[in-house]
Amino acid sequence: MKLNRNDNIVFFTGAGMSAESGVPTYRGSGGIWNEYQWEEYACERAFRNNPNNVLDFHELRRIEALKCKPHAGHFRMKGIEDKYPNTTIITQNIDGMHQRSGSKNVIELHGSLWRMRCESEGTIHEDLENGKYSNRYCECGNFQRPDIIWFQDMLDEKIINNTIFTITACSLFISIGTSASVWPAAGFPKLAKQSGAYCIEINPEETELSSIYDEVIREKAGRGLELCLEKVQY
Ligand code: OAD
Repeated sequence: MKLNRNDNIVFFTGAGMSAESGVPTYRGSGGIWNEYQWEEYACERAFRNNPNNVLDFHELRRIEALKCKPHAGHFRMKGIEDKYPNTTIITQNIDGMHQRSGSKNVIELHGSLWRMRCESEGTIHEDLENGKYSNRYCECGNFQRPDIIWFQDMLDEKIINNTIFTITACSLFISIGTSASVWPAAGFPKLAKQSGAYCIEINPEETELSSIYDEVIREKAGRGLELCLEKVQY
């Protein structure tokens, strides 16, 4: 495949994209959900039962994420965005690594660890210092929660519509480091395929969706991206 300057390119990333930066994945060896039960830390119910426990967990995740840096693969992606202006990164990650490497056109499907949202007013707060918020409460007196999609939360409709629009228009869809096990994100590779995109999966492990891709690259994100770009004559 030879890329043209105006081609629509989608990078669809999951936790495996950040693994080489040192951010743990969710499943598999070292996965966050092996150590922490999401029912206690990542759902609205847990937040209602014990908000400080849930906020401590997310604060720890921010502090750990601050110790990590974007890796070469993130910067390579930024280079592609510079060369091909119709490039979109659709990420399930909440760690902000793509933005930290300079990428601009990023759709965060599951929100961001770096924003807090007032439970009752919906106001967004971003006044963080070293991963911590000086005040866990909004001016209105209610707790702020991380502005992320927890288990059993609905995704933002505008974000979903934008994502579907972008995927159906893309000619190249590159999935990197996702187990494709969480919906609706797990449906996006098939949508890309049905819409006629050339689909490539980069993942050291086979996934449930591997068979639908036109090509699979069994490598880690950074090396996999290099090989992928050779194939598409970047
Ligand atoms: P998972 O932890 O489910 O899957 C990570 C994937 O990355 C696996 O398929 C690994 O094989 C692969 N992987 C591991 N190391 C890699 C590397 N160095 N390079 C490339 N791939 C590598 O993470 P996600 O699929 O992102 O949701 O999980 C989806 C959602 O489930 C997350 O957004 C999160 C979680 O619950 C919410 O928090 C709402």
